[in-house]
Amino acid sequence: MHAYPAGIDPRLPLVQDADLKDKVVLVRVDHNVVKNGVVRDPYRIDSTIGTLYSIVERGGKLILMSHVGRPRDKSTGHIDTGHATSVRPVVEYLERKLHTRFVVPDLPADPERGIREIDTSVNWHIRDLKRGRIGGIYLPNTRWFEGEEATGEKRHRLAVQLAGLADVFVNDAFGSWQPHASTFDITKHLPSYAGYLMQRELSNLTRVLEPTRPFVAVVAGAKYDTKIGPLSEIYKKVDHLVLGGVIYNTFLCARYGVRIKGVSDSDIEAAGALVEQDRTAKKIVELPLIVESDTLEGRIEGQYRVRDIREFEEGDELGYVLDVDPGSFELPNVAEIMSSASTIFVNAVMGLTPHFYEGSATLDHTIDQNPDAQKFYGGGDTLQEFKNLSPGLYLAAMDDAKYYFFTGGGTVLKAIEEGTPYGLGPVDALIAHSGASRVV
Ligand code: 3PG
Ligand code: MG
Repeated sequence: MHAYPAGIDPRLPLVQDADLKDKVVLVRVDHNVVKNGVVRDPYRIDSTIGTLYSIVERGGKLILMSHVGRPRDKSTGHIDTGHATSVRPVVEYLERKLHTRFVVPDLPADPERGIREIDTSVNWHIRDLKRGRIGGIYLPNTRWFEGEEATGEKRHRLAVQLAGLADVFVNDAFGSWQPHASTFDITKHLPSYAGYLMQRELSNLTRVLEPTRPFVAVVAGAKYDTKIGPLSEIYKKVDHLVLGGVIYNTFLCARYGVRIKGVSDSDIEAAGALVEQDRTAKKIVELPLIVESDTLEGRIEGQYRVRDIREFEEGDELGYVLDVDPGSFELPNVAEIMSSASTIFVNAVMGLTPHFYEGSATLDHTIDQNPDAQKFYGGGDTLQEFKNLSPGLYLAAMDDAKYYFFTGGGTVLKAIEEGTPYGLGPVDALIAHSGASRVV
């Protein structure tokens, strides 16, 4: 036995303890990085390569699976198995990186219901896999299977069929917290373990949940209602909270009795509790200089301006507020809070990019100027904007031990909301079924 990695629940079965020699290992990854048929940012793929190498090094034979996008229409239940959500671009990327060949089984799909069956044609590929003729098998998008997001018998059948392909299951899909057949039910039918990426993410999540203080969080989002749960939990944990995007606009409306275009009455009402709470706790760091625009159509000269919230009067009506002005971060109280933080967690794009980008870029640089803080970034969009706006800093940060980039944003927020990652369906299932023998 090895020493348990720091910050990991000792009940979690780990891939390093699995017997993989000559075993077919089914690995659930979160390679959900395809936009319009191309790999947009391979960070999530790259982050799983260590797990794949380790499995192969120890004699395991790889079958990979991931979801890509959301091919299932929520209202009709139709599953679209078109190019846009194919795993092909991911497979091509992996083949280039690993210098090997993956086969994607061509499973017949119903035009409306997706793939209903894993038929025996897969067995030929498994034979090639066992004989070392191919580097691995990459299954079609898990959400192309009718059973993946279904309930009852259909879902059970998919889990059993997936399990029938392999000897061992490894979950390395930290970003996929939804309990589906490929992340959750499968653990009932195969010996199941957490991969290295999953472990690394969980251990870093612990550092956010039990932060070294002072702890500053920066949270932004396009919608107030989806973030309200995590936001109120984050509020309890932080010493200081910085808000951006529509979340900040909503807060400003509730705090100062002003109106900002695009902010709904129901959201303003929902933000009331936070405003009340903050009157005494005073954790929210207000960024006073904001950018108001008359239009959402872009950055049009003469149609946007900097406003100062300290000049707000109750009843003021503003246009769209699309960013915070960089000058906000230079104000002494804001600068002091950012430079004295020991832990900083960011799940935020501050402005409406691409036109209003200065708020996010300045945030990233301000945080970087605090060399002592442990910095945690979570969320696909957060990282994408970081990379777009400050590519040099992003590259340096990738190799800097003071930075950690999570591969999943939704997972991190969900875990923060619950106060632990071990209640997340797929993680909990690994623990619940640890030691389970194969019952196919
Ligand atoms: C993500 O990209 O957020 C994860 O892969 C989860 O995807 P989902 O939100 O569609 O489940
Ligand atoms: Mg998401």
